[in-house]
Amino acid sequence: MTQRPILVLDAGTTSTRAMLYAPDGTRIATAQAALTQYYPHPGWVEHDAEEIWRRSLACARRMVKRAGGADRIAAIGITNQRETVIAWDRHSAKPLHRAIVWQDRRTADQCDALREAGHEPMLARRTGLVVDPYFSATKMRWLLDHAPAVRDAGDRLCLGTVESWLVWKLTGGLHVTDASNASRTQLMALDEDGWNADLCALFGIPRAALPEIVDNAGAFGETRPDLLGAPVGICGLAGDQQAATIGQACLRPGDAKATLGTGAFILANMGEAMPASSHRLLGTLLYRIGSRRAYALEGSIFVAGSLMQWLRDRLGLIENVQDSAALARSVPDNGGIFMLPALVGLGAPHWKPQARGAIVGLTQGTTRAHIVRAALESLSHQIHDLADAFAADGAPWRVLRVDGGMSANDWIVQDMADMLSLPVDRPLDVETTALGAAMLAGVGAGLFGSLEEASVMASQAMRFTPAMGVTKRAARLRGWRAVLAAHA
Ligand code: G3P
Repeated sequence: MTQRPILVLDAGTTSTRAMLYAPDGTRIATAQAALTQYYPHPGWVEHDAEEIWRRSLACARRMVKRAGGADRIAAIGITNQRETVIAWDRHSAKPLHRAIVWQDRRTADQCDALREAGHEPMLARRTGLVVDPYFSATKMRWLLDHAPAVRDAGDRLCLGTVESWLVWKLTGGLHVTDASNASRTQLMALDEDGWNADLCALFGIPRAALPEIVDNAGAFGETRPDLLGAPVGICGLAGDQQAATIGQACLRPGDAKATLGTGAFILANMGEAMPASSHRLLGTLLYRIGSRRAYALEGSIFVAGSLMQWLRDRLGLIENVQDSAALARSVPDNGGIFMLPALVGLGAPHWKPQARGAIVGLTQGTTRAHIVRAALESLSHQIHDLADAFAADGAPWRVLRVDGGMSANDWIVQDMADMLSLPVDRPLDVETTALGAAMLAGVGAGLFGSLEEASVMASQAMRFTPAMGVTKRAARLRGWRAVLAAHA
């Protein structure tokens, strides 16, 4: 087997990164750059697509240098924040508007209208998704309706999610998306291979502007020689949550993972059968490789790491996100404080785009430690609700595998095990999103014959076992349900 490393680009919500992986799964090096977040109106979240490209390229170049040149790289894998929409000009390769980020709620009214018109059951059945501003289709529609440069672009218009934009820029004009990202747009039927004409017509999205849907692993194209010093094959593409599921080696039906990134996303492998939730979870494509397809059931929580950043940047309650664990530990309990972290509405299983956050139970004795602890606890509460929904949908978790930046926080992982009453496993390297993209690129480049073979790259895990008493757990859940009932 070749020992040349795999280069991964992980274009996330708050930062973009490039990593080098050895074929045995060792992460050799990482370059990271923060992304500017734009909040032009309450509930709106935008990114500068040029900045995503510039910073991703700069990180990739650092990794290429580290590898000793582009000809030392075996393949590139790309993974990305999903649903975020970018519109660009086919001729100039310039964005026509800021990217509309997955968290953006501006299309809530459009979603209400779709629901009122009775489209939700059909959309759920065909796409696996509920009607919510989260998904790409209404964001694309908004751009076509409200951004003059997009509306007037005609044949020059390209629409895509972040991986499409990066592939276009890296290759100099290849317009593709992968099946996992496409399954988040609401324009692809889960059991089909291409864009669905009825869905495109319902949202009024011109198919000519959309990328071609390709597999998650394969030889998709090569980078422009001038960008990295020599052409490198792009061989893996996946939405970040699907990539993390693969990186956690959740390859058998029933395996479940939670990635604690900007948001928290729980996906359970459902095998080859298309999932249909009756408890407001999402059915999504986990991967498509040749004739093989696997599906997942997903619970999407919109704020996790971003809640910690909010405590730091907007409230000034913590200096570093890492301080949150020590602060939570510094008090014996939450002091009666409960938080509803609906900073960008509420995702699964509530789907309330208009919900706003709340902190309840404040007294003279409340300290910032209580508030920070309540914020961390709110994550476990939401994951607990999702565990119930997965079980009710016939996909109970036996063990939950946790990953992502925030999972380095032992306190939150233990609290999760306690509230779920389940073992929670954390891999030694929590960057499983990038690892999953490396595994896919390894398969696409022919280094591995299958994802199962590529799972030699996955790392060992450490187990957190539940230790909380029944009464304490019940009291926590009572407090959480009260805040949900009153404010959501
Ligand atoms: O669906 C949104 C998700 O892909 C964002 O992921 O890692 O930026 O929280 P992340």
